[in-house]
Amino acid sequence: MSTPDQFDGFMIHDTKNWSTFHKQKFEPKQFEDHDVDIESECCGVCGSDVHTITGGWGDLSTSPLCVGHEVIGKVVKVGKACKTGVKVGDRVGVGAQVQACMQCGNCKSDNENYCPAQVDTYNAPYKQQEGHSDKPMLNSSGKQLFSQGGFSSHIRAHEYFVFPIPDSIPSHEAAPMMCAGLTTYSPLARAGCGPGKKVAILGIGGLGHFGILWAKAMGAEVWALSHTADKEEAAKKLGADHFVLTKNKDWAEPLAFTFNFILNAADMTNEFDLATYMSTLAVNGEFHNVGLPDKPLPQMMAQDFAPNGSKICGSHIGSRKECLEMLKLAADKKLKPMIETIDISEQGCKEAVEKVKVNDVRFRVTLTGFHKAFGTGKA
Ligand SMILES: NC(=O)c1ccc[n+]([C@@H]2O[C@H](COP(=O)([O-])OP(=O)(O)OC[C@H]3O[C@@H](n4cnc5c(N)ncnc54)[C@H](OP(=O)(O)O)[C@@H]3O)[C@@H](O)[C@H]2O)c1
Ligand SMILES: [Zn+2]
Ligand SMILES: [Zn+2]
Repeated sequence: MSTPDQFDGFMIHDTKNWSTFHKQKFEPKQFEDHDVDIESECCGVCGSDVHTITGGWGDLSTSPLCVGHEVIGKVVKVGKACKTGVKVGDRVGVGAQVQACMQCGNCKSDNENYCPAQVDTYNAPYKQQEGHSDKPMLNSSGKQLFSQGGFSSHIRAHEYFVFPIPDSIPSHEAAPMMCAGLTTYSPLARAGCGPGKKVAILGIGGLGHFGILWAKAMGAEVWALSHTADKEEAAKKLGADHFVLTKNKDWAEPLAFTFNFILNAADMTNEFDLATYMSTLAVNGEFHNVGLPDKPLPQMMAQDFAPNGSKICGSHIGSRKECLEMLKLAADKKLKPMIETIDISEQGCKEAVEKVKVNDVRFRVTLTGFHKAFGTGKA
């Protein structure tokens, strides 16, 4: 099996036309010794894709841009220095990170998701020598090469960010675990989520719905906090013991001093009355942001943290170690996310990102049908 010199992707050209996708070719990074090439089968659609293409997080670093960082596919090429055991033919996944230095203190302590030299799966510049040089990696026309994401025929990633997928998890369900799953698993695991803990999952979207699945499977008592009334039934089916509609006046009052941990996976924290949410934390409880809104968090007074000694913090995706643990938990406990599928095409990509933008997904879209769209899958 081999890989083409250029990959095919559904790409946007500017943030004004953020849902207009064009199918076109792009040049991937140069193939280096720890790289793995994957022929993609499907890809989840993350809230972060929408923040990026709408320009909510700032200008595009490169144009055209291919987003998508929840990829499942088949390994078609393995670099000669690879040592994770990845083999041609394996079914694997790639999430929101494709490279790190692998040498710094963070990389050496299972915190490579906090490596200062990390490369995001799309919209990030590559440096030469697997990121160890200060020199930019250039394309065949002498221009800076940027990472390009998974709405595409193939993806190239450092082996450490290529995860084996258990046979029992179907690809369209495994795909969103690569970002939404890992981003919620990591902080819950690090917080010691388990029996005896009261955990709230705030914002029941792609991330939040995985948060419910994991927190329940870890043994916590789980509350779903949502501003959308019609999510109650699904939230309970996913494992929430309680559902709280945060649109209701005085919703927080009966919950004062309750939660050990609030996992905030909502997208619009800038509009929240954060002091009210903090009041529902038990003593020394944590309000943990994984949602990354376009705008700053609301102003708070130091006094808001005083009544319960609470804290506010955040995190970025998760580590390889946590990804493998998460996949094992999902397989062992037969956990089922709720996934909608849309076949990839210019129209399919448009429909998917527009649905995410208006909170119309229950609870993750996975783009499928890649082999047909790209003429792959024959190897
Ligand atoms: N930290 C990281 O490493 C990381 C990784 C991936 C994604 N993210 C970020 O995580 C966030 C969620 O991503 P996602 O893919 O799960 O997005 P999503 O599927 O769109 O879910 C976001 C949820 O936020 C809530 N929400 C949306 N609009 C709201 C509003 N106006 N007021 C209150 N709540 C609102 C909704 O939940 P309810 O209807 O239940 O209220 C919605 O389902 C995004 O900001 C994304 O960029 C961060
Ligand atoms: Zn994501
Ligand atoms: Zn590092």
